[in-house]
Amino acid sequence: MNNLSVVLRDAQVNNYAVGSFNIYNYETIKGVIECVRELKIPAIIAFGEAYLENMSPESVRVLADTLSEGIVTPLALHLDHCKSFKNIIKAIRAGFTSVMYDGSSLDIEENIRQTREIVDIAHSVNVSVEAELGSLAGGKYSNEGGGREIYTDPAQAKRFVEATGVDALAVSIGTVHGMYKGIPKIDMDVLRSIHREVSIPLVLHGGSGTPENIIRECIKNGIRKINVNTEISMHTVAGTAKYISENPGCHLSKLSLVQTELVKEIVRKYILMFNFEPEGS
Ligand code: 13P
Repeated sequence: MNNLSVVLRDAQVNNYAVGSFNIYNYETIKGVIECVRELKIPAIIAFGEAYLENMSPESVRVLADTLSEGIVTPLALHLDHCKSFKNIIKAIRAGFTSVMYDGSSLDIEENIRQTREIVDIAHSVNVSVEAELGSLAGGKYSNEGGGREIYTDPAQAKRFVEATGVDALAVSIGTVHGMYKGIPKIDMDVLRSIHREVSIPLVLHGGSGTPENIIRECIKNGIRKINVNTEISMHTVAGTAKYISENPGCHLSKLSLVQTELVKEIVRKYILMFNFEPEGS
């Protein structure tokens, strides 16, 4: 596994985005890794603090390492949305190569202070750090909880990045965690201003259901990592229900294979969509 900075390096140079896919069990981890093996395009395996009830960081790392044996394409193992210092340290100790410290609900000075502390620890063991400024609204079917929508302030983003030394910055520009309730309202001017102020890779949370034309515009304006969770879950749950109704009494082992294929359908779609390179780049 590589750290996030290594995984995003080629995307920074060649102006595309790397997909970060939320995983919570064997089928989701296997689905992401099999797509990387087939497509030979970098990706990020993302495990959120919210899923600690499903798996321990150690079991995620062991499975990810085992299933990715022989892959030379860059792959990162990332702790997604983590508000707890303790869980950040647990993930680093378990072998995660990247962590997201989410201090977005703190006031800016406290967010800077805590993020800086985590950056110092993480960098001392070659682990990358993502942070977030601003906050996303909650859409439909999200498991991330819905926050109040606060767009990222470009001047604050510049100051935050300089003061903390983070490796990637998640921004709020109108995407939502979950599926959109209406038409997405993305403020591309905010993203353009942040991109002018900040040179590190920018991260777009709330990838599920975001139309391809918006994704392309975001990539043109500095987005280098895009998170996808809800759509993986929705597609796999719906496909599982269909399979069971068509194959009553099916065996659980068969269901696991079906679910891995369903995960792959969404991961493949987004890896290819994000790998778009803007003209003239
Ligand atoms: P979606 O659930 O909208 O895809 O967002 C995922 C995300 O941002 C995880 O951090």
